[in-house]
Amino acid sequence: MSTRKFAAVAVGMTLALSLAACSGGGAGETEDDGAAGGGTEETEGGLIGVAMPTQTSERWIADGEAVKSGLEEAGYEVDLQFAGDDIPTQSQQIDQMITKGAELLIIAAIDGTALSGQLQAAADAGIPVISYDRLIRDSDNVDFYVTFDNYEVGVQQATSLLVGLGLLNADGSEGTATGPFNVELFAGSLDDNNAHFFWQGAIDTLQPFMDEGTIVVKSGQTDIEQAAILRWQQETAQKRMEDLLTSAYNDGSVVQGVLAPYDGISRGIITALQNAGYGSGDKAMPIITGQDAEIASVKLIADGVQYSTIFKDTRKLAEQSVVAAKAYLAGDEPEANDTETYDNGVKVVPSYLLESDIVYADNINSLLVDSGYWTAEEVASGVSE
Ligand code: BGC
Repeated sequence: MSTRKFAAVAVGMTLALSLAACSGGGAGETEDDGAAGGGTEETEGGLIGVAMPTQTSERWIADGEAVKSGLEEAGYEVDLQFAGDDIPTQSQQIDQMITKGAELLIIAAIDGTALSGQLQAAADAGIPVISYDRLIRDSDNVDFYVTFDNYEVGVQQATSLLVGLGLLNADGSEGTATGPFNVELFAGSLDDNNAHFFWQGAIDTLQPFMDEGTIVVKSGQTDIEQAAILRWQQETAQKRMEDLLTSAYNDGSVVQGVLAPYDGISRGIITALQNAGYGSGDKAMPIITGQDAEIASVKLIADGVQYSTIFKDTRKLAEQSVVAAKAYLAGDEPEANDTETYDNGVKVVPSYLLESDIVYADNINSLLVDSGYWTAEEVASGVSE
């Protein structure tokens, strides 16, 4: 994805320079001594800290850049940090943002429960905290949550698996296949609240098929704890798939479907399967799902290797976080469209949820190319420009 796109999105956002200029210390009323001071050059709109988990997945880079450019367009200064999926690094980065006088924090946490000290410091300083994509848990000190409908993402992943197996048609009607099909299940990182929502949505969708025996999890590993991949890592997923093949498919049986919650995990699974001879000869590649529409996976879908992914338009999520940030800094409350679903263990966090789409080979162009998310050249090469 090129920065051109982020700029285009940012231009589409309403500018609120005048509001930003008189935003003072954000939601805290005690900041008239200038919370944006603290060693950082003050700009009209003040400093906003943006903490992203990692650069190993391209979505977080895109999120970070889009949030940054949207805030800059609105006149704010931005401290954007990536933490290399390391919890102490992220804590330290947020500490520094607070020290530098950030007026608001936008945080995509690595571990949703690991930031209590930083959140307390933010609350003490009257700094609003927006939880970005991943819910910050077990803390009162999170003000707003922007995300996608994460349960629905899980439903979509499982639905695409059922469509690929022929048990459902794309319109949701019953398919002609009868099974039974051997399917293995993968989940995300247990310390990421989203992983539980994706899993629940997927399992609720698959359960009737498992109950009637149309879908068989041959390994017997049907608990999220067994299926989870710490930090969503590709290599860990590859290793687990290799172990499953060795332990549950050493009798000549084959895997026909894999529920994978994220494209990096999908690619790890695909490597394990290819190494075991799947995708060549009469050993067909199973139906494999994904998430994030990463360019390498979009190409694999176009090539018929991965079956599906879920497109979550990070440009829209970034835009929502900017809208929410501007509301706080103008002394208002951001508009929520869900005030029930996201209980973080201490309170229900008001949320703004966006919708996602299932990507199959036949709608790559309409969903991803026509919307400018990827170019046709990027899809053809599998590499972002
Ligand atoms: C995000 C997914 C992403 C995963 C791994 C989750 O919190 O919602 O979009 O695939 O993290 O980075």
